[in-house]
Amino acid sequence: MAARTARSGPTGKGSLVDRFGRNVTYLRLSVTDRCDFRCQYCMAKQTSFLPRAQVLTLEECLRVTRVFVELGINKVRVTGGEPLVRRDVLWLLERIAALPGVGELVLTSNGSQLERLAVALRQAGVRRLNLSLDTLRAERFQAITRVGQLSRVLRGLAAAQAAGFERIRLNTVLIRGGNDDELSDLVAFAIDRRIDIAFIEEMPLGDPGDRRRSGHLGSDEALARLRENFALIPSAETTGGPARYWRIPGSPMRVGFISPHSDNFCDCCNRVRVTARGDFHPCLGQDAVIQLLPLLRAHPADDRPLREAIVAALGLKARGHDFAAQDGAARVGHFMSMTGG
Ligand code: 5AD
Ligand code: SF4
Repeated sequence: MAARTARSGPTGKGSLVDRFGRNVTYLRLSVTDRCDFRCQYCMAKQTSFLPRAQVLTLEECLRVTRVFVELGINKVRVTGGEPLVRRDVLWLLERIAALPGVGELVLTSNGSQLERLAVALRQAGVRRLNLSLDTLRAERFQAITRVGQLSRVLRGLAAAQAAGFERIRLNTVLIRGGNDDELSDLVAFAIDRRIDIAFIEEMPLGDPGDRRRSGHLGSDEALARLRENFALIPSAETTGGPARYWRIPGSPMRVGFISPHSDNFCDCCNRVRVTARGDFHPCLGQDAVIQLLPLLRAHPADDRPLREAIVAALGLKARGHDFAAQDGAARVGHFMSMTGG
């Protein structure tokens, strides 16, 4: 049955290819839905989190990852919520990094715990970091994250730079009326720190709750504003992801744009997601999910049902997403904190 919709290699080793011929090599694994921030675009103000029994244990996270890697995944990004609030996450990271076939282990973080954990993360085998940073103004940072402290994140960034990650990229969500007057400051900050920065169009995920969206700010407009202050050179390079990169002359760093609204990058999509509760999302813009947790628990010593479910579910991966609604209506019923971005 699975063979009609998606293929894996003959031995279960090898490649995961969906029905549109896309080779899936990149797993984004959310290890917790919890976060110590409450970013407005990500979570409702009053959020309830999953009870522990409904969250994959770290052993289950490792097992799922190993099965994906045996099927051909070679890059793993650990996400949250905030992955570093999960207790013993280093245990998991070390073991994922050591799985044969994992070429690259990377992490997305809000930076709140980095001052404490940066060195250990690097030692565990995490090679690159994406760090969320939407503003350089302390008050504004607190307003956007509702509870976060900018100074702590900046100390976390400094610790990460000292720990010697291969690459650090800032992720900045474009918020009209929220941080759009700071885009050049953020780029100047990234140049100064010699790190990359990517601007992300806000995606209408979940119910914004207490916040009214004031119209979405697109990458084109953001780019046009930045070009008033910086000589940006288009760059053909890609990191295999949806970001389009520009270079700053005389600097090694890059400015990226991730544009789910205005670009259709689905044709080269190489990624799938597993949430903290073990739901396999073949496509972020689609509600179709396969629950892996019951399979994991029903077959503790046999990976085959899990493997078959993954291959079959890949057949559900859509050709493209549909975030077309510009009116703030939530098109997809889950929050970013559930799928890890
Ligand atoms: N739209 C775009 N990006 C989002 N993120 C969280 N919620 C949204 C959203 N609604 C980003 C965070 C972080 C990454 C995990 O996802 O800023 O950089
Ligand atoms: Fe937490 Fe990241 Fe969501 Fe902000 S965007 S609430 S830091 S998971």
